[in-house]
Amino acid sequence: MTETHIPVLLQEMLHTLAPQDGCTYIDATFGGGGYTDAILNTANCKVIAIDRDPDAQKRALPFENKYKDRFQFISGTFSDLDNLLPKDSLCDGIVFDFGMSSFQLDEADRGFSFRLNGPLDMRMSKDFGLTAADVVNTYSAEELAEIIWFYGDEKKSRIIARAIVEQRKIKPFETTIELAQLVRKFVKRHDGLDPATLTFQALRIFVNNELIEIDTVLKKTLSHLSAGGKVVAVSFHALEDRLIKNWIRSDHSALQHSGYTLKALFSKPICPSDEEVRKNPRSRSAKLRAVQLISTKTIWSGS
Ligand SMILES: C[S@@+](CC[C@H](N)C(=O)[O-])C[C@H]1O[C@@H](n2cnc3c(N)ncnc32)[C@H](O)[C@@H]1O
Repeated sequence: MTETHIPVLLQEMLHTLAPQDGCTYIDATFGGGGYTDAILNTANCKVIAIDRDPDAQKRALPFENKYKDRFQFISGTFSDLDNLLPKDSLCDGIVFDFGMSSFQLDEADRGFSFRLNGPLDMRMSKDFGLTAADVVNTYSAEELAEIIWFYGDEKKSRIIARAIVEQRKIKPFETTIELAQLVRKFVKRHDGLDPATLTFQALRIFVNNELIEIDTVLKKTLSHLSAGGKVVAVSFHALEDRLIKNWIRSDHSALQHSGYTLKALFSKPICPSDEEVRKNPRSRSAKLRAVQLISTKTIWSGS
């Protein structure tokens, strides 16, 4: 079990958000609190942190003791942002660091890892939803192939799906290693990635409804931002990054009618340096994008 999670693109996130005294920020993916800690140490500001994982809630306890009323933890899924945040409250920035934490990946009992043997679970919150075992033991070969193809971009998705269905006739899947070993029989890779990587990624995204969560929350963020407020989002694979990119480029004309515009802070995403990737290989696919809500009234008046 890992004792820590190394925050990815931390300095880049901080530099972009540029926390200010007296402001309030939302860390919608608290994890181990790496982003929250850095924000609270940079300015005399407040952070409202959200995470769906009950283990993250436990990790937030020392933050409550340390930062007192500058820190608040809310347990829940970020797609429920409108109900989680105090009504009509506006904040000065929202940060997202999508995907899973090293705490989740490296804890065998959570069932995310193809390297550690554990129950085939993969739920970020064990309170509800199907486990990965439920999915592989009950979905049809066609449904499994589609999940593994769409969320994992795994070219052997049909072969893997058919093998899963054959194997479960003998014995239903219970553990991560059972699934990983089956996939490794049918997928060979020459790029250093474990052959089970994409199948596990696909099941994790599906089980946690991750893309719908992201799509939903992005559409809600702007109504919680004050003028000048920023959204800083870090993604880890192309499906996540595409949702962020499309949201930034989408039609925000309704905003303009109410006197605001959305400005992308960079034309291209920020990626980790070679040094960061060397120190923390899990950062290798990260991309940071950011936007700022600008009042057009401010622009016109020249102030
Ligand atoms: C990559 S980690 C964040 C790490 C954090 N930035 C840090 O520095 O420690 C992502 C976190 O987001 C949480 N998460 C993922 N999807 C979520 C959702 N839909 N709602 C709330 N939390 C979510 C996960 O449980 C996980 O703890």
